[in-house]
Amino acid sequence: MNTQPDRIIIFDTTLRDGEQSPGATLNMDEKLTIARQLSRLGVDVIEAGFPCSSQGDFEAVRQIAETVGVEGGPTICGLARAKKADIETAAEALKSAASARIHVFLSTSDIHLEYQLKKSKSEVLDMAEEMVAHAKSFLDNIEFSPMDASRSDSEFLYQVIERAIAAGATTVNIPDTVGYNTPQEMGALISGIRENVPNINQAIISVHTQNDLGLATPNALAALESGARQVECTINGIGERAGNAALEELVMALHVRRQYFNPFLGRSRESEEPLTRIDTREIYKSSRLVSNLSGMMVQPNKAIVGTNAFAHESGIHQDGVLKNRQTYEIMDATSIGWTNNQIILGKHSGRNAFNSRLQELGYELSETELNKAFLRFKELADKKKEITDWDLEAILSDEIQQAPELFRLELVQVSCGDSARPTATVTLRTPEGEELSDAAIGTGPVDAVYQAINRVVNVPNQLIEFSVKSVTAGIDAIGEVTIRLRHEDRVYSGHAAHTDIIVASARAYVNALNHLSATLRQGNQASNLSAHQQN
Ligand code: KIV
Repeated sequence: MNTQPDRIIIFDTTLRDGEQSPGATLNMDEKLTIARQLSRLGVDVIEAGFPCSSQGDFEAVRQIAETVGVEGGPTICGLARAKKADIETAAEALKSAASARIHVFLSTSDIHLEYQLKKSKSEVLDMAEEMVAHAKSFLDNIEFSPMDASRSDSEFLYQVIERAIAAGATTVNIPDTVGYNTPQEMGALISGIRENVPNINQAIISVHTQNDLGLATPNALAALESGARQVECTINGIGERAGNAALEELVMALHVRRQYFNPFLGRSRESEEPLTRIDTREIYKSSRLVSNLSGMMVQPNKAIVGTNAFAHESGIHQDGVLKNRQTYEIMDATSIGWTNNQIILGKHSGRNAFNSRLQELGYELSETELNKAFLRFKELADKKKEITDWDLEAILSDEIQQAPELFRLELVQVSCGDSARPTATVTLRTPEGEELSDAAIGTGPVDAVYQAINRVVNVPNQLIEFSVKSVTAGIDAIGEVTIRLRHEDRVYSGHAAHTDIIVASARAYVNALNHLSATLRQGNQASNLSAHQQN
């Protein structure tokens, strides 16, 4: 096996660490849709979930392995604690992937050993070796992560890595779990490992950088300069707390600054060969898809994929760009697949044109879903003359997100104004098929609607975020509403789109309550188990 590839391996963990973003829970259809897009994007490895954490995660990894992990497709990876049951469950979920990997993690820092694992260093050394060997009995491709590596005693870290490689780990991933390192420290950590772990050449070095200090991307790049050959990242940088290194930032840094990075990979500065296998033209589409489905909005000034990333406001910049784009632009917006959001469909467009555009945008719908979405499209086309890609994405994310549809909004009516008390009436169909109506007065129309819905659904929750944005310009634009609510210590998000923002607000709320109710129904203790709970 070539352990030192001459390109960078992109390990995407949007569906595992990304899904650990508070409120970003994705249902099965959403996960499959994202996995298919990641495959089109060209990622090398998809970490599809943590199979032992819940039945839902197991099923997602199993289905992604079966449908996306086909011959010639990406490697499908499942996360596992250093426990036999986790490893066996991951192996089972990954069974049908043409190329599969088990990712075993185990803490190595003093603080984790003392408070979480309650194990001695010698016990951890034995566990690492035994569990990697156990994983190896199922698959050849094994990744091992010493969790909290960046705060671990380096001599101990070297020993754990050596034992894991000796037991069969083919990739060793070095996590900066709490986002504590600076780029120089990250580089030195990787160099130290290369110099002090005798069998390091038998494995690929990977890094997993968290963004707590906003350094995830520079830390990952510094690690690559020191010899790491795999980076773990997520679309839009979503993930636990402040998130992970953003795939689009890493890939575009390696693309735009290829001449700078080439020598670190032993290439001549001038080499034109891409440093990753990513099809950069799929980046923008992937970003919008993940944002729409996860409800994690992208800030306008986000590098590469923010709506302002290629906008020039100051007169001097505009003047320069008009004369020669390169005066103020280091990359071409089209290289990430950014389009001018051109008008593509209208009232007279047929079902085939509609479907083929959806497929180009990354959505593959079943016959029933397509029928529903087409109906929505026709309704919209009656109200809005010009339908853009962004309108289509809004309709689609709305349709896909409706599942699990436990409660269904049948009617919403409000009366409000500067001299009226905002009052709302709603009718909901319950999971048992009963139609229930109620009414409430609120401080505004949305508050009134939410109070009326609460009276029917009757699950205590706290609304912690409400945002409404217009999908396109123009008075007839679709309004997209994203909300996040908290129940006990978990956050659930909801998303909906409609030309009437009160309807969109009501649907987004019902959508979030459906996510919440589904979790309650599963009695979902297991799904609360995040990758960071090891005991
Ligand atoms: O942050 C972390 O350490 C992780 C590991 C499981 C790689 O997510």
